[in-house]
Amino acid sequence: MVEAAPAIWPKAAARARRCVVLTGAGISAESGLATFRGPGGWWRNHDPQTLATPQAFRKNPGLVWEWYQWRREQAKRAEPSSGHRAIVVLEDIFPEFLLITQNVDGLHQRAGSRRMVEIHGNIFREKCFDCGQSGPGCSETKSPPRCSCGGLMRPDVVWFGEALPAEALETAWRESARAEIFLAVGTSGLVQPAASLPLAAKQGGAFLVEINPEPTPLSNWADLSIRAKAGEAMAVLVDALRAQGR
Ligand code: OAD
Repeated sequence: MVEAAPAIWPKAAARARRCVVLTGAGISAESGLATFRGPGGWWRNHDPQTLATPQAFRKNPGLVWEWYQWRREQAKRAEPSSGHRAIVVLEDIFPEFLLITQNVDGLHQRAGSRRMVEIHGNIFREKCFDCGQSGPGCSETKSPPRCSCGGLMRPDVVWFGEALPAEALETAWRESARAEIFLAVGTSGLVQPAASLPLAAKQGGAFLVEINPEPTPLSNWADLSIRAKAGEAMAVLVDALRAQGR
């Protein structure tokens, strides 16, 4: 339970103008969505090689499609959490702000985030596995529909072994390196290149905050590690900024 933000936070944030937030599956855990590596996480019981690689899709497109359809249904039913909403407040407080999310569930947009990049794609979009053309998204079919080129449609997410969307990633690197405040929220910090963004921020002189109930490799680098759930930790950080009249 976090009762108040450590004094170091309002001091670091006092005159900061540029804030970057990186989120991972932990922020959506409070919306009821499973993480990947936390307790009950996807990769604890499923091999990512069978569900989240181009090879897996080539081998069994129906299985991969069905798994993403199922996750999409879960995401549709979920509601943004207080952590998602607190990030929208930060966007209003800091004149320069960027949210970088590894999440594909669309909950940040539904909470109202605007200045954001999705570096692992979005589960509600689809594209052709062969020609890359975007589809209408949200196809309800049980198996992947076909593109006009004849190829199969796939979810527009980044799979293991694939490159991240170049423009989103470039923005993420650039703004991380310029950040004065960088918050890493609900990410295990194990997947590259996302895991290096907080370090780029730190090297650029940012004050690095980590919010995670568990320690991660990022913890050693953080100026402030808050071992708590995203919702409650973000609330106390926002309260401290409000108390400064921001
Ligand atoms: P992980 O599942 O690896 O990590 C989730 C983190 O959230 C863990 O460190 C948990 O301790 C933490 N956590 C759990 N509940 C939390 C809460 N209520 N508040 C704050 N933190 C909480 O998820 P990611 O770091 O997002 O990639 O994983 C990165 C990437 O690996 C994902 O984007 C996905 C996955 O394979 C692709 O699909 C390309």
